[in-house]
Amino acid sequence: MSNYRTVAIEKEGAVTTVVLNRPEKRNAMNPLMHREMNEVLTEVERDPKTRVLVVTGAPPAFCSGMDLKEYFHEVDDVDAERHINRRIANEWCDRMLRMFPKPTIAMVNGHCFGGAFTIVASCDFALASDDAVFGLSEVNWGNLPAGLVSKVVATLMPYRDALYYAMTGKTFDGRRAAEVRLVNESVPAARLREEVMALAEHLASLDEAAVRATKEAFKQVVDMSYDQAYWFLMSKSNELRWRHQQTGRGGEGIEKFLAKEYRPGVSSFTKTGK
Ligand code: COA
Repeated sequence: MSNYRTVAIEKEGAVTTVVLNRPEKRNAMNPLMHREMNEVLTEVERDPKTRVLVVTGAPPAFCSGMDLKEYFHEVDDVDAERHINRRIANEWCDRMLRMFPKPTIAMVNGHCFGGAFTIVASCDFALASDDAVFGLSEVNWGNLPAGLVSKVVATLMPYRDALYYAMTGKTFDGRRAAEVRLVNESVPAARLREEVMALAEHLASLDEAAVRATKEAFKQVVDMSYDQAYWFLMSKSNELRWRHQQTGRGGEGIEKFLAKEYRPGVSSFTKTGK
């Protein structure tokens, strides 16, 4: 892996953790971090050993959103730079992460403001510490939750809560983030990493192609009509069948069930010997 100035990478078995690493600036996303995250995610995608990606921040913050100085203020009068910053930010915070071909988990370990909501929303799962501080602070400094922030909170959170936090700029903690479904779960800070790793290891133990196909299919059908979804899912299922045939796993899940080697309702065939 290359050396990065604003991002650190930690590996543990099949799990790669990408750490937003400007703690002295509460991991605010400056243009360099956006460029580096585009590269880092490409490297992690390419790494055959990585089965699950975790995104977190160097303590005490998860991410304090866009860098108000370098991302906004310094390029306020430079149209092209402003546009380029937004494009590279959107590329990784939304597009690359949302459709990342491996499962992704946001580990929200501290401050999470503004643009950081897009990272949380783009990951497949999000776990927060009870004392994490969330805020749609844009209104507090005279802006609106742009990029895709308003869109992702309107999609994930109940309407009344999303609008309340967007229009008031008030903060909320990890427990409340779980209540309004911005994160899957909130746990005491001391247990956060352990819980995230348990989820990551479970995901890594499942059939890789099936997990990937499930994610890709799920994220596409959300905006489709019933008829479109039906035919799309049929094609994805055929594609998965073909992939399994190529890797010699065709029919393995059902064969092992019929041989009474496991019960798919409560376990995965990947956990039984071949
Ligand atoms: N952009 C640029 N710099 C930021 C930043 C951001 N989004 N968030 C924090 N920083 C910088 C501070 O300017 C300070 O820099 P300095 O030491 O050179 O003065 C440093 O990070 C530490 O911040 P500080 O405010 O002292 O830390 P704190 O722990 O008391 O408070 C926050 C943390 C996140 C509550 C506070 O820094 C804050 O309100 N940040 C802005 C959040 C925001 O509105 N983000 C924009 C969303 S798009």
